[in-house]
Amino acid sequence: MARKLVLFTSFSLLFNTPLAGERDFTAARESMAITISALAKTITVPSGTPGIDDSVLAAMRHVPRHEFVPEDVRAAAYENRPLPIGYGQTISQPYIVALMTDLAKPRKDHVVLEIGTGSGYQAAVLSPLVRNVFSIEIVEPLASRAAERLKSLGFANVTVRQGDGYHGWPEHAPFDSIIVTAAASHIPPPLVNQLKPGGRMVIPVGAPFMSQNLLLVEKDEQARIRTRSLLPVRFVPLTGGSR
Ligand SMILES: C[S@@+](CC[C@H](N)C(=O)[O-])C[C@H]1O[C@@H](n2cnc3c(N)ncnc32)[C@H](O)[C@@H]1O
Repeated sequence: MARKLVLFTSFSLLFNTPLAGERDFTAARESMAITISALAKTITVPSGTPGIDDSVLAAMRHVPRHEFVPEDVRAAAYENRPLPIGYGQTISQPYIVALMTDLAKPRKDHVVLEIGTGSGYQAAVLSPLVRNVFSIEIVEPLASRAAERLKSLGFANVTVRQGDGYHGWPEHAPFDSIIVTAAASHIPPPLVNQLKPGGRMVIPVGAPFMSQNLLLVEKDEQARIRTRSLLPVRFVPLTGGSR
């Protein structure tokens, strides 16, 4: 009996602990969520509610950011900073991902468009909060890798395609919200057109390789547009023919 108990304990240890050589990031992810929550309380964003919604923080606690970054920067996966993902591109700072997700006011019945899939991390954070995420990435290898990664990690309601996100994704429009994760010189009119009445778009606008303004664009039920500048940010530029 005692011997059986020992065996059972060993199996349970085997399945509940990371494999040899594989790091357990649970504590680091929790610490990241605490940092984001604390930071959100100190930054005033003129968008209504202060702080980050608990559902968004839960999504940040859930998504394994270390799976979305290259091996050589994996140890830094839960630091509150952007990291390189290849092709001159970055995965955004976790606080900014949480803030943009929160500003989109995601709901379980929402369909969301993301421009700039990159690693797929922002799409994964949106995934448990909404019905469908459609995400467009202009760099083909990033688009195909993100699609594979999201599929293998079980984010089944995310669809990725390669293309120029400036033009949106008319086949799946209109969208409840649109998140643009690359800096545009202006708000792309096709994206405004593809926003539902009552919808919200979060987009960094400004000159490339400088500080830009994070804008919240709201379309009311009469399709009137209100744009508010929320805070200075720094994103990689939106590329493609129409930027
Ligand atoms: C800051 S990174 C995005 C980070 C990403 N959301 C993530 O979670 O990893 C910006 C991304 O936008 C992509 N991008 C730039 N211009 C684009 C365009 N016109 N259409 C679609 N994607 C674009 C870049 O290739 C890059 O991968």
